[in-house]
Amino acid sequence: MLFGMLCLTSPGLTRALPAYNVRVLAGHFFSSIAGSVDLNEDALQRTASVYVHWPYCLRRCSYCNFNKYISRSNNNDTMTECLQRETQTLLQLSQVSSVTSVFFGGGTPSLAHPSTIEAVLNSVSKHAHIPQNVEVTLEVNPTPLGRSKLKDFYHAGVNRFSVGVQSLSDDDLVILERDHSSHDALCTIEEASRLCPGRVSVDLMFGRPRQTIQSWDSELKEMLQVCDDHLSLYQLTVERGTQLFKQVQSGKVTVPGDDVTAEMYQRAREILHQHGFCQYEVSNFARHNAVSHHNLSYWKGRQYIGVGPGAHGRFVPLGEGGDCREARTQTLEPEVWMCEVQKKGHGTRRRIQLHQRELIEEVLVMGMRMTKGITHRHWQRFSPHVNLHRVFGTSLDVQGLLQSGKLILDERGLRCSYEGLTLLDSILPTLLLEIEQIYAPKQKDSFKVRKIGS
Ligand SMILES: C[S@@+](CC[C@H](N)C(=O)[O-])C[C@H]1O[C@@H](n2cnc3c(N)ncnc32)[C@H](O)[C@@H]1O
Ligand code: SF4
Repeated sequence: MLFGMLCLTSPGLTRALPAYNVRVLAGHFFSSIAGSVDLNEDALQRTASVYVHWPYCLRRCSYCNFNKYISRSNNNDTMTECLQRETQTLLQLSQVSSVTSVFFGGGTPSLAHPSTIEAVLNSVSKHAHIPQNVEVTLEVNPTPLGRSKLKDFYHAGVNRFSVGVQSLSDDDLVILERDHSSHDALCTIEEASRLCPGRVSVDLMFGRPRQTIQSWDSELKEMLQVCDDHLSLYQLTVERGTQLFKQVQSGKVTVPGDDVTAEMYQRAREILHQHGFCQYEVSNFARHNAVSHHNLSYWKGRQYIGVGPGAHGRFVPLGEGGDCREARTQTLEPEVWMCEVQKKGHGTRRRIQLHQRELIEEVLVMGMRMTKGITHRHWQRFSPHVNLHRVFGTSLDVQGLLQSGKLILDERGLRCSYEGLTLLDSILPTLLLEIEQIYAPKQKDSFKVRKIGS
C-alpha cells in the first residue's frame, strides 16, 4: 500500500509507504511553497479549519471503504439542520474565533443541495469570523449532475473544487464501478476551472487493475493538457471489505506489484516536475502555488473541527474549560448521528485527550509528509523544551538515515530527502522510537473513551 491518501473523515490517518529505492531527482523539489501566513501562538489557539462530511453516495465504488451510505430517503432538510447545529455546537465548544478554511468532503458532497452548503457556511460565519477569500473546497464527483450544480455551489460560497476523476480510461472506470465517463470528467474539470481558475484540484489513482507504466504515463500527460493547478495522486489501496478486495482475493482481478507502482509514482513525480508542478506533500502537487491550505493545516498540526457523520476533529474544548487538545470522532451512521445532534447538539462519539507525547507523534507523522518537513519553529510550538536536534540528533539509527541521505536535519529543520519521501513509512518507526524514549509514556487515560455530557 502507499502513497499517502489523506483520509478525509480521518485526516490523522496516513497510509503506509513501501520501502524501495528511487533515483534522486534534482530540481526544485524543496523550493518553497508558501503556506498560510505565520500566526502567533494565541491566534493559533483561536483558529481552526472546518471539515464537513457529507455521508451519501449514489452507489459504492468497488475500492472504497470510506464512511458512506447509499441514500434511500430524502432527508436533506434534517441533514442540513443537523450539520448547522453541530457546526454551531463545536465552534462554541472550541471558542475558535476565526476559521481558516472549510472543506466539504464525503461521500459525495456534490449530491448535497447547494443551499445546504450555503446554510453550513452561514452557520460557520455566524459563530466565527471567516476572512474574505478563505479557501472553501467541495469534492465533486464528475457526473453530469455534479457538473450541472457547480455554478450554484460557487454562488453558495465554494471557491475551490476537488474533482474525483480517478482515471481517464473508460474501461477502468467501469472496473472501479464509477458512475461517470472520462468525457464527463473532462467536461467537469473545464467547467470547474472556468468558475474557479487556479483553484481546481483533480484526484487520480494509480496502481489500478490492468494499469501499466506506459498507460499511466499517457494518462498523466493527457490530464496535464486539461487540468488546472493542483493534482492529488493516490495509489489504489485494496481495502478489506470492498468488492475489489474480494475480486483480488479470488484472483478475478490483479493489481500491479510494488515495483511497478513504485515506478509509476516515480514517473509521475518526474512528469509533473517537467510540467512545472511542485510536490509539496507525499501525494500532492501544485503549480503557481495553488496548494490546498486546508490539507496543509492538517499536516502542520493546526486545530480542525470535524462536522458530520464519522468526521474527525482535533481541538482544545476551551468552551468547557479544557486545556488539552482532543481527538474527536463523530458518530458514523447518519441516522443515529442526526438523532444525537437533535438531542444534544452534537454527535461526538469519542473523545481522546492528546497529551504531549501523542501530540508530538501526530506532529511528526503528519509533518514529515510535507516536502519541507518540520521546521524548528513548527516543532518548538509543540515541544518548547526539547528541540529537534536533541530528540533526533544523537541517535545512531537516525544518524544512519542522515548519512544515507534519506533524512535531512539542518538549520531549517527535519525533512525527508527526495529519495527519503518514498521511504517515509520505513523511516517513521525509527523516528517514533526516539520520541518514545524522550517524552513521558503515553498517559493511561489518553486512550480511554470518555463519556460525553450534553
Ligand atoms: C473518499 S473519496 C471522496 C470523493 C468522491 N466521492 C469521489 O469518489 O471522487 C476521496 C478520494 O480518495 C481517494 N480514494 C478513495 N478510496 C481509495 C482507495 N481505496 N485507494 C486510494 N485512494 C482512494 C480517491 O482518489 C478519491 O477521490
Ligand atoms: S463516490 Fe467516492 S466516497 Fe462514494 S463510494 Fe465512490 S469513492 Fe467512495
